[in-house]
Amino acid sequence: MDEAAPGLFGTAFTADPYPAYAWLRTNAPVHKTVLPSGVSAWLVTRYADARRALADPRLSKDPRRHRAAEHASGRVGIPGERRANVMTHLLNIDPPDHTRLRRLVSQAFTPRRVAAFEPRVRELADRLVDGFAERGSADLIDEFAFPLPIYAICDMLGVPAEDQDDFRHWAGMMLHTAGKRGGVGRAVKRMRAYLGELIHRKREDLGDDLISGLIRASDDGEQLSEEEAAAMAFILLFAGFETTVNLIGNGMLSLLRNPAELARLRGAVAAGDEALLASAAEELLRFDGPVELATWRFATEPLTLGGERVATGDPVLVVLAAADRDPERFAAPDTLDLGRADNPHLGYGHGIHYCLGAPLARAEARTALATLLGRLPDIRLAADPGELRWRGGLIMRGLRALPVEFGPR
Ligand code: HEM
Repeated sequence: MDEAAPGLFGTAFTADPYPAYAWLRTNAPVHKTVLPSGVSAWLVTRYADARRALADPRLSKDPRRHRAAEHASGRVGIPGERRANVMTHLLNIDPPDHTRLRRLVSQAFTPRRVAAFEPRVRELADRLVDGFAERGSADLIDEFAFPLPIYAICDMLGVPAEDQDDFRHWAGMMLHTAGKRGGVGRAVKRMRAYLGELIHRKREDLGDDLISGLIRASDDGEQLSEEEAAAMAFILLFAGFETTVNLIGNGMLSLLRNPAELARLRGAVAAGDEALLASAAEELLRFDGPVELATWRFATEPLTLGGERVATGDPVLVVLAAADRDPERFAAPDTLDLGRADNPHLGYGHGIHYCLGAPLARAEARTALATLLGRLPDIRLAADPGELRWRGGLIMRGLRALPVEFGPR
């Protein structure tokens, strides 16, 4: 099957993977391939199969379930996590441990906390636009999409202001060395060590922040250990950072390449139409979302997926980006329609690992769009779309830079 399949994972593929995904959906909807790391895995590309696989308890999240875990160590799972000793986090564990940890963190990561935090995200977004509004041009990734989630999540976790630039630096190492696991590993290790220390300090002086919430959280009298709290803080940062950078970056690019939809959203922002703003944030995620593939899953027993026999220990990767363009589920899937009413996309996942940070991500996306279009109404792309460069890790996909122009104001 591999000979006939279109090239996967090269530069052209990363710039526009959708034609290859359309081919896979039609010709090989559950497709075994060898990844650039040398590990082979099944790619699941149809919406119905994807949704089923995401919720299938026979697919474990524990990398030790990999058929050859000892050989694949460091090549399956989240980059850098082994080196930083953060193997026990929500995306790597199964029930009943997952159920317990998720309940504990949900106590700290409440919708109330997110809602209370929205004005702070608006303030951050405005301050970032202040930094370049006069200039008439900017790189939206470096100057807006990248710092916004870093400062937002640091504030929410309770990282003191004077330490937040260290985080910006480590996060930059993670982004700019994506694909080179060594650099990512170093950045992850530093963040993890810092979070461990911070938790230790906060234990003496609990505040109203998320880390204090994690320390306080308890289940039948059982509290998170310091180790678990640090792993949890790390996964919140890790899962909430590059995703948001790319949601803003990919989303703005989709708008800039679809001027009629851009004008529609600009009108909605000017009129205070919150409903269109909210549905736009969902549609941009469906159309070109940041999480191209869901995280690793491993078969715990032989199973049949889309007609293929998957053996025990085989890795399964659900291609969210392909599922969300499946014509069997979405009308005109390759068209960006910001008002799309029937939009049960898988951009935040599905099942027990459904994105815990979705309320925060939605708030950040709405705020980013409203701020950018409200303050820079004539924003336009300052590069040929074909020349834009993409960062393609296995799981996430996003732009290295997004140059834009606008009338100085
Ligand atoms: C901006 C857009 C975001 C997108 C598109 C996104 C997407 C996802 C997806 C697809 C999953 C499921 C992965 C899988 O099943 O393999 C997930 C899980 C998760 N996300 Fe997000 N995410 C976003 C932002 C955030 C933010 C801001 C946070 C936290 C601050 C966050 C925290 C998490 C956590 C903790 C999990 C693991 C949940 C579990 O395993 O129970 N995410 N996210």
